[in-house]
Amino acid sequence: MKKAFVKSYGCQMNAYDSARMADLLGEEGYAATDRVEEADVVVLNTCHIREKAADKVYSELGRLRVLKGERGQAGQDTRIVVAGCVAQAEGAEILARTPAVDVVVGPQSYHRLPELLARSRQTRVVDTEFPVEDKFDALPARRTGGVSAFLTVQEGCDKFCAFCVVPYTRGAEVSRPVAAILAEAERLVAGGAREVTLIGQNVNAYHGAGPDGVPVTLAGLMRAVSRLPGLLRLRYTTSHPNDMGEDLIRAHGEIPGLMPYLHLPVQSGSDRVLKAMNRKHDADTYRRLVERVRAVRPDIALSSDFIVGFPGETDADFAETMRLVADVGFASAYSFKYSPRPGTPAAERADAVPEAVKAERLAALQALLDGQRHAFAAAMVGREVEVLVEKPGRHPGQVAGKTPHLLAVQFDAPATTIGTLQRVRVAATSANSLFGERTHADAVAA
Ligand code: 5AD
Ligand code: SF4
Repeated sequence: MKKAFVKSYGCQMNAYDSARMADLLGEEGYAATDRVEEADVVVLNTCHIREKAADKVYSELGRLRVLKGERGQAGQDTRIVVAGCVAQAEGAEILARTPAVDVVVGPQSYHRLPELLARSRQTRVVDTEFPVEDKFDALPARRTGGVSAFLTVQEGCDKFCAFCVVPYTRGAEVSRPVAAILAEAERLVAGGAREVTLIGQNVNAYHGAGPDGVPVTLAGLMRAVSRLPGLLRLRYTTSHPNDMGEDLIRAHGEIPGLMPYLHLPVQSGSDRVLKAMNRKHDADTYRRLVERVRAVRPDIALSSDFIVGFPGETDADFAETMRLVADVGFASAYSFKYSPRPGTPAAERADAVPEAVKAERLAALQALLDGQRHAFAAAMVGREVEVLVEKPGRHPGQVAGKTPHLLAVQFDAPATTIGTLQRVRVAATSANSLFGERTHADAVAA
């Protein structure tokens, strides 16, 4: 049987797209493999968000070239596909730089992969179009997404933050219709999913068509999805502060199954930097937003993204970011050094912050955020939490799952608990996981 190896870089949407490409190749008779040496088709689903992420692709392609040569000598063909956002941004340049690549395909046209692979037998191909047909309609039905599955409901971004490539690589904001999302969610649940995370670059700007053609908000969509029998938990990510509508905030207090966790990137705590970033909100607006969400759902865990060293960022600006973090308190966060990206307005600026200053600020911010993350996890010790069991644990006899606040937990229980909700008393924490004991032999729900 032919085999396909798909490697995903970057965000959850890429993880979703990778799963869909694996489904598509599955329909074409390719079995999925995690051993690249035995793959007849290798897909790198790439990320362009920061320079480091994009560079990884070229070093991986160097290794693949050697592999392709070796397999070729043994009489085996290997098709190499570069998909995702580097493909979209760099297109034909990738072919010119890396002779081993056969297909370059962007995030909006990967449903054409089988056809592109067939064409690549004659000539190397690039497809970075934004086609008129709906990619999702053209994809085969979902096979399985595991106990906790991602589901793309919205794609693209119209916000044009000054540092970000997403509006260029993923295109304009598009929402999928409610019916298509419900059908996909139903299939996921039938395949064993108990938690679904609705994903989009700007998921809270969702405005897909409802049954009567009238646009539905994310809160409306979540109400419909949460009614699916068998679905125990619902999450969504990633949100923009300016699209946090009143009905979405209220939904956090109303929808059973919507988990108390909100990823709400703020990027900076300085009004001056936020303005230069074209974020279109200030730091106090963010603080007030957090207060409103907490008023509805006091136990909500907050998470965010931060960029340090945006062009022109001063020590005083950075101090404002530290102050915002101290004020809000985050259960988890991602933080990055600013990376200039070709084609974005910020990359044109002459007032870059020196690398050493960026590194210093990142270390200080991460120390603060890490302290908050550990304190949040440590506060769970002694408490009983509900854990959705996702997979076998690190040691025999153990299973691993997540709390409502997205904390990983390991505990002793048979593998038959996978896919069920269990009550666990938390006994200890380590750097990345909680440890505990089951308090009831029966599941809360299955
Ligand atoms: N440099 C550094 N970080 C970036 N992000 C987006 N673009 C850049 C960039 N040019 C970060 C933002 C965003 C997250 C997905 O990646 O924090 O929220
Ligand atoms: Fe990028 Fe800003 Fe759009 Fe997020 S909101 S994807 S950071 S442009």
